[in-house]
Amino acid sequence: MKANRKTSALKFKSKLIMVFAFICLIPTVSLVLVSQLMIYQSVNHWKVVSRSLRELLVVPMSEDAMQLASDPGLIDALIKNEDITENDVVLGGNYIIVVYNEQGERVFINRDDEALKEQLASLEKSRLPPIEEFRPGEIIITGAIKIHKEELALNAVLCEIPETGEAVGVAAVGRFIPSSPTDIGTTTLVIILILVAVLVFIISIWISSLVAKEITNPIQKLVDGTQELAKGNLNYHVKVDARDEMGILADSFNYMTGKLKTNAEELKRAEKAAAWQEVAQKLAHEIKNPLTPIQLCTERLKRRYQSRREGYEEVLEECSSTILREVDRLRKLLDEFSRLARMPQIDPVTGDVNSVVQDALNLYGNFPENIEIITDYGREIPLTSIDQEQMERAFFNIIKNAVEAMEKTGGKLKIKTGIHEDSGNIMVTVSDTGSGMSADAMEKLFTPHFSTKKGGTGLGLAIVKKIIDDHNGDITVESEKGKCTVFTVIIPVLEGA
Ligand SMILES: Nc1ncnc2c1ncn2[C@@H]1O[C@H](COP(=O)(O)OP(=O)(O)OP(=O)(O)O)[C@@H](O)[C@H]1O
Ligand SMILES: [Mg+2]
Repeated sequence: MKANRKTSALKFKSKLIMVFAFICLIPTVSLVLVSQLMIYQSVNHWKVVSRSLRELLVVPMSEDAMQLASDPGLIDALIKNEDITENDVVLGGNYIIVVYNEQGERVFINRDDEALKEQLASLEKSRLPPIEEFRPGEIIITGAIKIHKEELALNAVLCEIPETGEAVGVAAVGRFIPSSPTDIGTTTLVIILILVAVLVFIISIWISSLVAKEITNPIQKLVDGTQELAKGNLNYHVKVDARDEMGILADSFNYMTGKLKTNAEELKRAEKAAAWQEVAQKLAHEIKNPLTPIQLCTERLKRRYQSRREGYEEVLEECSSTILREVDRLRKLLDEFSRLARMPQIDPVTGDVNSVVQDALNLYGNFPENIEIITDYGREIPLTSIDQEQMERAFFNIIKNAVEAMEKTGGKLKIKTGIHEDSGNIMVTVSDTGSGMSADAMEKLFTPHFSTKKGGTGLGLAIVKKIIDDHNGDITVESEKGKCTVFTVIIPVLEGA
């Protein structure tokens, strides 16, 4: 039961955490997605911008290449197959200038850079077409190659003799352009973004578990309180320190249990009063019953005496015995009732239940011959605190009922004492093989004045119940109509007895 409640509280807590997590997941994930999109977009944008920038650089370069290729000095030097010097190259600006002869051999470069020359060789091999494929006036732009973290592309134009149009070489102009940003930067950015998002998510789960605990703890306390209340523990007090709605709820709960407690007490008092009222009414009725024959007899006697008629002695005999019988019944009734009504406080002293039960049997005296008495006294019965006289009276009443139930048929009366296994208290069972009783009778058994016997007061078991209650004990009954009845009495073992 307890474990069940705990798991249900856990379930509620994890449900709360899940909801919180879901709530933080939505903005985190959408933020990551949007930022990723923005990163990609700006990188693409930068790529477009950088491409335009390069074009801006490349366009004037191609015009310069045209100008270089048509330079008469250079063409002249190429025709004559002379060495080409800086003087033959008239171009200014920060260009890399390369010239090839008719056979496609590089015959001039204006930089003395070995690394550059090496790179150029691979560029010439893979990207520059052979001289036969150049058409007059066409600018061939090679793809860019990477040199020193920069990019180099060449604009190459055919050099031809103006008059004949005969090709004598190729002039190429190039310039370093800064590299475009690579995709590595973008990926790193996205990874950092996702890591931050995961961190934010973990922190929010942690915070939400703290919040969930704050919420579920007082609820758990209230649940415990209601369970205790359901078990009938009206003294349970729910302790919630918070001064928020939960605190108010706990206060109302405590107020409610307090109210329930006073109501229950009032109800108990009212029930007691009602029970006593009923007893008083029935008692009045019972007292009235014998009064009628007494009155009638007395009047009859008086009339006879006054008229001095015959047979006065007979009537006197008859009436006086009736009066005596009824008076006796009255006394018996009043005796029993005063026993119940006196309600003397029990006066417990240390005593032995076995001997009390035996005393009750002895008090009964002679049992009818058709009834067999079997006793089975437990050996390990501890001494306990009991009012021996009242307890003896209680067992006497139970034994008397059992004997009365077997009066006609005979049977066995069995009395057993022992220890109740679960509680360790003293247990006495009185069983008989008598008339048994109906379920209806079993319900009313202990109410004052319930009797199925002619001349019975119905107070016997009410007195028994009161005595057992005063000892904080318990009495229960099991019965099968026409067969048997078992009364079980539990008497607590009191410390210090
Ligand atoms: N051992 C039993 N077997 C069958 N019925 C029983 C037994 N004990 C009690 N009862 C039933 O319970 C009723 C109430 O018993 P209770 O002792 O209170 O009153 P009573 O015996 O009728 O009257 P009184 O005790 O004044 O003689 C009895 O009338 C009887 O019907
Ligand atoms: Mg009785």
